Amino acid sequence: MTNVKRDGFGSRFGVLVAVAGSAVGLGNLWRFPYMVGTNGGAAFIILYLFFVVLLCLPIMFSEFIIGRRGEANAFGSIKKLAPKSGWLSIGVISVVTSVAILSFYSVVGGWTLEYIFKSFSPAFLSSDGSSLSSQFSNFSQSSFMPVVMHLLFLGISALIVVAGVKKGIERYSKILMPVLFFLVLLLAIRSLTLEGSGAGVEFLFKPDFSKITGQTALAALGQAFFSLSLGMGCIITYGSYVNKKENLFKISFMSAFADTGFAILAGLAVVPAVFAFGISPSEGPSLVFITLPQVFAQLPFGQIIASAFFFILLIAALTSSISLLEVIVAFCTEELKWSRLNSVLITFIVVGVFGSLSSLSQGILSHVTLFGKTFFDLFDYTSSNILLPVGGLLVVTFVGWRMERSNVLDELTSGGTISLKPILFKAIMFIIKYLSPIAILLVLVHSLL
Ligand code: PFF
Repeated sequence: MTNVKRDGFGSRFGVLVAVAGSAVGLGNLWRFPYMVGTNGGAAFIILYLFFVVLLCLPIMFSEFIIGRRGEANAFGSIKKLAPKSGWLSIGVISVVTSVAILSFYSVVGGWTLEYIFKSFSPAFLSSDGSSLSSQFSNFSQSSFMPVVMHLLFLGISALIVVAGVKKGIERYSKILMPVLFFLVLLLAIRSLTLEGSGAGVEFLFKPDFSKITGQTALAALGQAFFSLSLGMGCIITYGSYVNKKENLFKISFMSAFADTGFAILAGLAVVPAVFAFGISPSEGPSLVFITLPQVFAQLPFGQIIASAFFFILLIAALTSSISLLEVIVAFCTEELKWSRLNSVLITFIVVGVFGSLSSLSQGILSHVTLFGKTFFDLFDYTSSNILLPVGGLLVVTFVGWRMERSNVLDELTSGGTISLKPILFKAIMFIIKYLSPIAILLVLVHSLL
């Protein structure tokens, strides 16, 4: 398993930047606010936080354990730990899910690119919600530019992955992520101080538990997995690049904390503004592209801030899309023995086609549906609400029931160099073996009823 790419991350900071870079992306700033909006607000957030702590953290350790132990892509790691077994389905699911997610993620990445260009025009900043709303639908429903932007976004991601993730992206993320955080904080403050934002704050923090249904719970679970890049081999793949001495607990906690903080902050930046400007919180995927320009219009130097925001959002989206691509490329290079260039090229073509379909499904293909969903919704819904939870379920079950307990302990204590009280280890194993799988199953089954 000696591969040039397998030299791994150089430092804890490198790992954190890469994992947090994968986690923080469109999922936090674009998807989270509209999921909160369409799923009833505070009750959804509470469920989300509950799932992050109870399910996502154990799954994150589990994925790191598999990857660092297996020292390969998701499929290869499982192959090494449980050769010729049904568990290899984890590796297959990871590739399928990456393709599905990329097929809508890069479309939204393309929208972000377009909004960078749009933000240069003074006419862009407007406090007129309906004109912003029609501007967005006119663009996203057209057949040419969104497809071009999607391919451009995918192309940039592909170029980075061909060149190797290494220094460039890590170095930029180190600077740009804190700037993004600062900008979102600024937007949150402005949004919270808008007249009429109180109703939005109430929507975010005053739970109405009658809003929780099986579908809401599944949506919260799917969003948590999506946002933390779990259930699809991404953390397994990145885990295989992590140094043997690294503390997997610490990395998991820090990444989950940073990602959740970003999501809540994005909620605060978008939702109060939604109420202040009288937009419907259940607007859906267009929400951020309609509300934020209105908040920018209320800020001094709004146009510069708008350009900076969409530019950095693009970087956040890229650090996530490269991690999605890396899952597929690591599989193709290590398992199929394709060259890195060919792997990236073929992935580009496949996702390019599916992504174009999902882009066109906003407009001319909107009448083409499968199981009642357009291509875009189908990729989004099936990956987040079915494939990721099933992937996560398989991962914890694998670590809990199939892996040698001593190997799990060895990974959690980094070869015995980190002390872990036996009772704590027992508790972790209990969660991984019973609690997490049962909870995921319950949510999955409940949502079907
Ligand atoms: N976590 C990313 C986001 O929130 O935008 C999306 C993502 C990246 C999902 C990588 C899954 C993944 F493996």
